[in-house]
Amino acid sequence: MTIRPETFQYIRDALHQRTAIRLLDNKEYLVETRLSVLAKQNGMRNVDDLVAHLRVPGSSALWRDVVDAMTTNETSFFRDHTPFEVLKNSVIPEVVKQSTQSKTIRFWSAAAASGQEAYSIAILWDEIKKHYPHWGVDILATDISNKMLERGRTGAYSDLEVVRGLSQQRLEANFHRNGNRWCVNERLKQDVNFRYLNLINAWPTLPKMDIVFIRNVLVYFDNPTKTNLFAKVRRILKPNGFLFLGGAESALTIDDQFERVFQGGGSCYRLKSEQNNE
Ligand SMILES: C[S@@+](CC[C@H](N)C(=O)[O-])C[C@H]1O[C@@H](n2cnc3c(N)ncnc32)[C@H](O)[C@@H]1O
Repeated sequence: MTIRPETFQYIRDALHQRTAIRLLDNKEYLVETRLSVLAKQNGMRNVDDLVAHLRVPGSSALWRDVVDAMTTNETSFFRDHTPFEVLKNSVIPEVVKQSTQSKTIRFWSAAAASGQEAYSIAILWDEIKKHYPHWGVDILATDISNKMLERGRTGAYSDLEVVRGLSQQRLEANFHRNGNRWCVNERLKQDVNFRYLNLINAWPTLPKMDIVFIRNVLVYFDNPTKTNLFAKVRRILKPNGFLFLGGAESALTIDDQFERVFQGGGSCYRLKSEQNNE
């Protein structure tokens, strides 16, 4: 069975309004596949029934489940590899050199999905921290999907998830086996805080960040949304702070206050120093 055109249109518009995620014209199947499961779980016959419930004021709990179902949470440990090399070889040394007072490097993994990105940063830091005595890290991991945030907090991953990006050595050094899951060691968990944050709404008060990862989420947003987002990132970054985007994403055509740095073995963006104050 296929969903009614007005059902698709309603989900598409409301999802865009709530998350900025754009669903293309031909994505009816995606809505149907993902939401018919949710409809059944809630005792409804189909997605048309689900939408009828969503239209009723006070359906925010159901909406949370719809957002969980409609977000694409694809991720992996050390995804794309090179960003983490740039982080280790260029960005962290630069942040340490720049900061005369602060002894905490603040990271933000925005759109963190199930936490692999944030834990990759924590693993990397654990490997190199001996070179930075007296320095610590604070890693904030946020997402719009409560289900993903819960997974991140739990820090338990399947065999398939850990083979994607983790060497045997990193696995053994940072995880322990519990039943059929690999669980992140407490030592690393202490460095990472998971919190709900919708990138397109007003942000709660956050500390100024040294390094922000917003990887593989901009692809779902239109240009006005990206423009607003970069403006907010500028305000949250410290002077000369760094921004990592996904391989298919760029700040250059959207916001000229970011410059591309460390090109060659991978790159990221740096905020031009005088630009980030409101
Ligand atoms: C493809 S995953 C990327 C995960 C990770 N950053 C990486 O690169 O592997 C995209 C994530 O963005 C989140 N997301 C989508 N729209 C969002 C929004 N408006 N605010 C915050 N997170 C959002 C989704 O829930 C999903 O977990």
